[in-house]
Amino acid sequence: NSNARVKLVEVGPRDGLQNEKKAIPLATKLELIERLAKTGLTTIEAGSFVSPKWVPQMDNSSEILQHLLQHPPASPRPLTFSFLAPNLKGLNNAFTVLAQHPDSFATESTTTTSSTSSPSSSPASPPKPALEVAVFAAATETFSRKNLNCDIATSLARFREVIQAAKETHSLRVRAYISVVLGCPFEGFDVDGHRVAEIATALLEMGADEIALGDTTGMGTAPRTKELLNCLSAAGVRNEDIAMHFHDTYGQALVNTAVALEHGIRTFDCSVGGLGGCPYSPGATGNVATEDMVYFMETLGMDTGVDLDAVVDVGDWITREIGKGNASAVGPAVLGA
Ligand code: HMG
Ligand code: MG
Repeated sequence: NSNARVKLVEVGPRDGLQNEKKAIPLATKLELIERLAKTGLTTIEAGSFVSPKWVPQMDNSSEILQHLLQHPPASPRPLTFSFLAPNLKGLNNAFTVLAQHPDSFATESTTTTSSTSSPSSSPASPPKPALEVAVFAAATETFSRKNLNCDIATSLARFREVIQAAKETHSLRVRAYISVVLGCPFEGFDVDGHRVAEIATALLEMGADEIALGDTTGMGTAPRTKELLNCLSAAGVRNEDIAMHFHDTYGQALVNTAVALEHGIRTFDCSVGGLGGCPYSPGATGNVATEDMVYFMETLGMDTGVDLDAVVDVGDWITREIGKGNASAVGPAVLGA
């Protein structure tokens, strides 16, 4: 039943780690990605080509991309690795790596769209991973300036160039985030759903393949999630083009996930161990934990293709490795049971 299939996007290696003050060794980041790849997750956000002055923790994204191309992780399902790029400077830094490994990645046109249950390939020669670029807009002017140092209109003009270059040069899939869609740390709850729909429509018209709606602050509630999705539907944005990116700061992420599922959304972001926070969203905690998301989906009879026990082990390992508490509820419960 394809309606019971959900796609989970693992953002732990990027959103989960970007805010860590202590530099996390490259080897730890690579091991995290490799371990996640074994759990059945198909899409992993692996890094971010942003200014190292703004987000120092993501400074070794070139090395991460290079390693993933040279040594594609073994995985039971075909993999897509996603990298943030806010401007052409960031995209070109990614392209520099791609130019050195031109035949090491699958482009959108060479991958099959059904990513759910393809046969596992020989562990000796993992298939080429697909790559995706992610741009990130904001729903409020203040957040746009704090996060991107420019207003929304300027950011959209930059994303148009990034999307075009990503498509024309390497036929890459492009995801486009819109942050603070359900609340802004600077402008409060006063985020206009119609404005979100307008930005989403603009990004889709530029060629973005998916809109990821970010509840950056975790301020979203069930009724406001419903209201936002109704706004997008009314504007003609299709459910299959939307992913939900819930942070769990107020503990509402799974409730909001249920609302979005009911609305017909089938792509959800999550972060192993509930790692994370946004450097430009004071006090925001991590995304909803992958462990909690997988458990929740399974109890609803949804098919994630992800092995819960395996992802619980990864969450236990990485939170110990970087010395953080495990923010997943399900992970420690499963381990203690
Ligand atoms: P700016 O200072 O306005 O950039 O920053 P600029 O174009 O004026 O350039 C200034 C310097 O930065 C130059 O270097 C550029 O080369 C360099 P200099 O000549 O001074 O030596 N530069 C870059 N270096 C590396 N990579 C680049 C790059 N661009 C310029 N891509 C900029 C503008 C967008 C770069 C900056 O604001 C930035 O990096 N922002 C990123 C902030 C960020 O990463 N936030 C977290 C990710 S978003 C998020 O977490 C939300 C999300 O999870 C969804 C949700 O939860 O809602 C996605
Ligand atoms: Mg986020």
